[in-house]
Amino acid sequence: MIPVNSVLQVGQFPEIMQMEIDKRLSTIQLLDPQGIVPEGNFTAILTRSNTQIPKALLEKMPGVRMVATCGVGYDNLPLEHLKAHGIKASNTPGVLNDAVCELAIGMLLSLLRRITEAQAFVKSADWSKSPFTMTTTLAGKCIGIAGMGRIGQDLAKRLEPFKVKIAYTGPSQKALPYDFFPTIRELAQASDVLILACPANPETDKMINAEVLDALGPQGYLVNIARGSVVDEDALLVALQQNKIAGAALDVFENEPNPRIEFLNIDNVLLTPHIGSATSETRQLMTNLAIDNLEAFYNQQPLPTEVKN
Ligand code: DGY
Repeated sequence: MIPVNSVLQVGQFPEIMQMEIDKRLSTIQLLDPQGIVPEGNFTAILTRSNTQIPKALLEKMPGVRMVATCGVGYDNLPLEHLKAHGIKASNTPGVLNDAVCELAIGMLLSLLRRITEAQAFVKSADWSKSPFTMTTTLAGKCIGIAGMGRIGQDLAKRLEPFKVKIAYTGPSQKALPYDFFPTIRELAQASDVLILACPANPETDKMINAEVLDALGPQGYLVNIARGSVVDEDALLVALQQNKIAGAALDVFENEPNPRIEFLNIDNVLLTPHIGSATSETRQLMTNLAIDNLEAFYNQQPLPTEVKN
């Protein structure tokens, strides 16, 4: 049992998530994490991955012993502070793989076959004037996956039927039937398409820099479904503007929901508004898993998906 109003809900939640929350618990809401904390005896926080939880908020609420975030990524949490104060944390891995992988494959196909431009071409009646430009086939390409965790492995399996070669990099080699490259530069060099599926952490911060983009080369494509911070956006903009790579599909940006204006004015990009997990089914599953973690915490049970910090 989760005591009534013991959970502070921080950030804006879409309606579909709020409905799941309201079915199972009674929370008090704080829309802006920098805002004034409402009165209450809060012992847990429920948030989501687009909301940064500042250390200062937790300092104002010393009674909080648990933070449950809806999202597989937990770069929105002040991990050092949580660890130093023995505050538990949970995320929602696994339940969003289907949605995220489906989006990644959709973006990949759309980027290579220029589906959105093809639709604009038909709608603008340009078809009657000249044929649409030739595009490129996915089959036969080498797809490099940066980050062979749950999502990376799920993605690799789903890509196999497309007759591609799969390679990867990550902190360590795994027992997988794919070529491993110890560095992101070597992976980029070997890949026609580089897909980012790694967590945002100090090791991956701005990992996709000018050198990596040069290694990907003028025929190479980048797909980012991870986090904006993994890419050096200055370097990516130069690479796109100067055709040092063929194109990029980006679901995530450093500054969300206001990505750099330059991205909006480039032709060889496909841009989506961080919708990897944004299906009704997935958001319901994520919300319920986050609440399962809160329930376990209040029942003094092991958390189903604890962030081991
Ligand atoms: C995640 O789970 O981290 C996703 O980015 C949320 O949509």
